[in-house]
Amino acid sequence: MSNTDFKKESTSSSIGISIKKFFSKIGLILKKAFKSVVSFFKNPVKYIKIANEKRRAVINDVYTPLVHNPENILEVNKLKMYFPIKAGFFKRTVGYVKAVDGISFNIKKGTTMGLVGESGCGKTTAGRTILRLYERSGGQVLFDGEDINKLKGKKLRAKRPELQIVFQDPYSSLSPRLPVGEIIGEAVREHKIVPKDQYDEYITKTMEACGLQEYHKDRYPHEFSGGQRQRICIARALALDPKFIVCDEPVSALDVSIQAQIINLLKDLQEKFGLTYLFISHDLSVVEHISDTVGVMYLGSMVEFAPTKILFKNPKHPYTEALFSAIPVPDPDYKMKRIILEGNIPSPANPPSGCKFHTRCRMCMEVCKSCVPNVMEIEPDHFVVCHLFDKEALEKNKEMEKELKAKTETKSNLTEE
Ligand SMILES: Nc1ncnc2c1ncn2[C@@H]1O[C@H](COP(=O)(O)OP(=O)(O)OP(=O)(O)O)[C@@H](O)[C@H]1O
Ligand code: SF4
Ligand SMILES: [Mg+2]
Repeated sequence: MSNTDFKKESTSSSIGISIKKFFSKIGLILKKAFKSVVSFFKNPVKYIKIANEKRRAVINDVYTPLVHNPENILEVNKLKMYFPIKAGFFKRTVGYVKAVDGISFNIKKGTTMGLVGESGCGKTTAGRTILRLYERSGGQVLFDGEDINKLKGKKLRAKRPELQIVFQDPYSSLSPRLPVGEIIGEAVREHKIVPKDQYDEYITKTMEACGLQEYHKDRYPHEFSGGQRQRICIARALALDPKFIVCDEPVSALDVSIQAQIINLLKDLQEKFGLTYLFISHDLSVVEHISDTVGVMYLGSMVEFAPTKILFKNPKHPYTEALFSAIPVPDPDYKMKRIILEGNIPSPANPPSGCKFHTRCRMCMEVCKSCVPNVMEIEPDHFVVCHLFDKEALEKNKEMEKELKAKTETKSNLTEE
């Protein structure tokens, strides 16, 4: 046999093996799919229950159900939003982007909670999951004592107007083909917020409350400035008579001079209509100005939560300290002590073990690398998720460091011998 013949034969046999492997893989998948179809048709309720249990086990959806406090309009308990990562020909789930990973907080009626954190930490996803624009992967959200995730059909439709969102970009969130009156009124008619004969007057009043005029009704979004467009977005949300609004970076696309007007408008509307806001922003000065409480997120987790004054005066979590050290102080004699965070934010698909912040924390200890920190209430209503404030974790850290020291000493003794 010549050399080329041998080469041809070996390549054709390797192709044969790969084809065989491919078909056996497909066979296995089809067998699995057939089994699932059969078990589904045998008992659909049992099938769905088992599938849900499997999913909950993968996502580790464990929480103690909340007891509703009537002071709170929103109670969030271990909320998780994992986006599946699909791969392969059959688009199987091979992992999850843990965009929101078990966050908990409460918002009192008529107050504003600020939500801050680096880009990609999960602020928008948290807001959208609370509003049920995404189906949560785990946890619980009580709105006025009612679990929103359990609502279905008509009940969910009736609840929708009470929870609204104002988006960051007023340019892309308004339909360019509809006049402003229709943009604001469309959902008002749909949800029958007011009787037909009061509709026109209601839209005019809502527009006026947001600083717009009646003659703006027939104009199109492109005829307005950025600030006015955001007023239209706010009027659209307000027209549905909401109780709670997620404001997702509502001023960051606007000129600085316009930002203050929109913030003041939001504050006025809150006073007038008793609204509650979740205010998401990068701008810490704006958050300080508008919020009653503030939550700090890092890589899908809440690391610190406190009343605004306390948090801005006395940030405790090393991440919050670093984030707040970048706030400019309007005093030429003041020397800023900026804490620079080393390294990039890790991937939410594969977050670091233990404390998620340990790869960038300047205070990192041995215990931080493997143990997840507990939520510690270090003063009334001030919660920090960090081992530095947990006596038991500090004790454990001492032991771990001792063990590590002993190990390295024996290692160095062995190498010396
Ligand atoms: N629909 C989606 N599918 C998959 N991953 C997503 C989806 N939406 C968001 N993510 C991922 O979830 C993480 C959190 O995103 P999110 O938009 O909530 O962050 P953010 O804090 O609002 O960021 P920014 O401040 O830039 O707006 C990011 O890693 C993002 O890539
Ligand atoms: S738990 Fe450890 S790594 Fe995490 S923030 Fe606290 S000190 Fe830093
Ligand atoms: Mg966002």
